[in-house]
Amino acid sequence: MTRLVAIQTDITTLEVDAIVNAANTSLLGGGGVDGAIHRAAGPELLAECQTLGGCRTGEAKLTQGYQLPAKYVIHTVGPVWHGGIHEEVTHLSNCYRRSLQLARQHGARSIAFPCISTGVYHFPKARAAEIAVATVKATLDDIDNAMDVVYFVCFSDEDLKLYQAILQA
Ligand code: AR6
Repeated sequence: MTRLVAIQTDITTLEVDAIVNAANTSLLGGGGVDGAIHRAAGPELLAECQTLGGCRTGEAKLTQGYQLPAKYVIHTVGPVWHGGIHEEVTHLSNCYRRSLQLARQHGARSIAFPCISTGVYHFPKARAAEIAVATVKATLDDIDNAMDVVYFVCFSDEDLKLYQAILQA
């Protein structure tokens, strides 16, 4: 069985096969976790992102990790929260599912997700954590648990407590 683990750390430090970036549709960098990943990976990451033609909300695209300890970066675009009536839940769920599928297609056995959309995109944190865990579990079932470990990377104490509670339930 795949292990699901909540940890509090900077995602750019993790030695995993793939880390997921909470990007925007341009894929050309930004603030938050996106900025941190680009800074840590170095300018080659932006150069590869410039060849990708952007990414739609709920979709995911893969690049190399460059200077990161992670082999791959999977860039996904979460929804901006507009009250929940604009398919935000579906889009957020798609981010987790597509990212995991893409990781699997590239032979990854370990992946780390940030709390997508819960920063400047303002998706409610508790709801987002529930969607993240439920979608990852459902997708792992679909891919025969072909992953050793999935990390839910929390930056804040609040997120860590949310994920720990959901994973222990
Ligand atoms: N490691 C792990 N988590 C982090 C890190 C880090 N180094 N830095 C921030 N977080 P956000 P979004 C957490 O705003 O809401 C960018 O400008 C952070 O505390 O990065 O999806 C993009 O270019 C929060 O819990 O992403 C887009 O324009 C979580 O990562 C936009 O922000 C997500 O916060 C995407 O917004």
